[in-house]
Amino acid sequence: MSKALVAYFSASGVTAKLAENLADAIDSDLHEIKPAQPYTAADLDWTDKKSRSSVEMGDKSFRPEIANRVEQIERYDTIFVGFPIWWYVAPTIINTFLEQHDLSGKTIIPFATSGSSGMGNTNAELRPSCPGAVLEEGKRFNANTGKAELKQWADRFRP
Ligand SMILES: Cc1cc2nc3c(=O)[nH]c(=O)nc-3n(C[C@H](O)[C@H](O)[C@H](O)COP(=O)(O)O)c2cc1C
Repeated sequence: MSKALVAYFSASGVTAKLAENLADAIDSDLHEIKPAQPYTAADLDWTDKKSRSSVEMGDKSFRPEIANRVEQIERYDTIFVGFPIWWYVAPTIINTFLEQHDLSGKTIIPFATSGSSGMGNTNAELRPSCPGAVLEEGKRFNANTGKAELKQWADRFRP
């Protein structure tokens, strides 16, 4: 039987809540992508060009380290990957996550929260990190999107 996983990174809890609702709505497993070094409020200050997030996002080849990984990724064939939009795209820790696992043959569906930006160039940045996978066009959601709407969206990608 095919199984779905919801994996997410959330620096301040907004995407975490959405990911929990999505996993609950589709009855899937949930996995938090945990940075080896958690992001502090100062790290997330996008008005500071020298803050950690500004420096990291200024170099798209940078790969923030992750503390954990998905056990038995082979159990899943559909993986929803959630994150906050940073500077109009996915944070590069999502590249780290994709590159950590063998995702060939799997379907990857990005989803995000943001202040207001859409998915932008997210998939162009993520595609090289998941060779052999089908990378679907993802979606940016309002933080308070309900479970019924999340399920309706997610069911489109599930066999
Ligand atoms: C470093 C950084 C960059 C961001 N860049 C954008 C952006 O380009 N567009 C936008 O609408 N929101 C942007 N935001 C806002 C976040 O996407 C938004 O607050 C998100 O819901 C946070 O999710 P989280 O609590 O799961 O980390 C940015 C936030 C941070 C910390």
